[in-house]
Amino acid sequence: MATTGTTNKSSTAKKSASSSSKTKSAAKKSSTPVARGNDAVAVLKRDHREVERLFKQYEQAKEDDARKQEIFQQIALELKVHTQVEEEIFYPESREFVKEQDTVNEAEVEHQSAKDLIAQLEGMQPSDDYYDAKVKVLQEMVEHHVEEEEKEYFPECQKSEMDTKAVGERILARKEELMGRMGGGSRAMH
Ligand SMILES: [Fe+2]
Ligand SMILES: [Fe+2]
Repeated sequence: MATTGTTNKSSTAKKSASSSSKTKSAAKKSSTPVARGNDAVAVLKRDHREVERLFKQYEQAKEDDARKQEIFQQIALELKVHTQVEEEIFYPESREFVKEQDTVNEAEVEHQSAKDLIAQLEGMQPSDDYYDAKVKVLQEMVEHHVEEEEKEYFPECQKSEMDTKAVGERILARKEELMGRMGGGSRAMH
């Protein structure tokens, strides 16, 4: 995670490094920039980044069971809403624009595996054996799935005639509805 590979934007900066070492804190970036706008791909990518952020928080909560449970509940909510809008809207809308139907089929199967694991975790306590292991495997499954969506599936849709703007608006509206219902008002939408 070290960010030592600075780009030499200004050669004079090197000379005064000791006196200006704090000035660049605002330049801190995550490895993947947050996608802006309401295009379907941008909306779904923002969800991906949010879930990644939550999994990192979970890792940092190491021994704090109450915190771990709270973060897992947020992860579960985010993933349920996200998988539902993809399955209800994005996947069916994009199907006709992708060459290999297995791209969509595999994504659906991966969603089911994630949901199975979430259901198991919902019946457990953070102090239980295998709780952390199951959260870790869920994280790895989600990371793999997100990578395939972002590197293959989504770019294929973006290159096609698919109306990703219109689909994005529908996804946002549905997300709002589901968050209100599933979140039970315990968490603000983003
Ligand atoms: Fe997905
Ligand atoms: Fe996704």
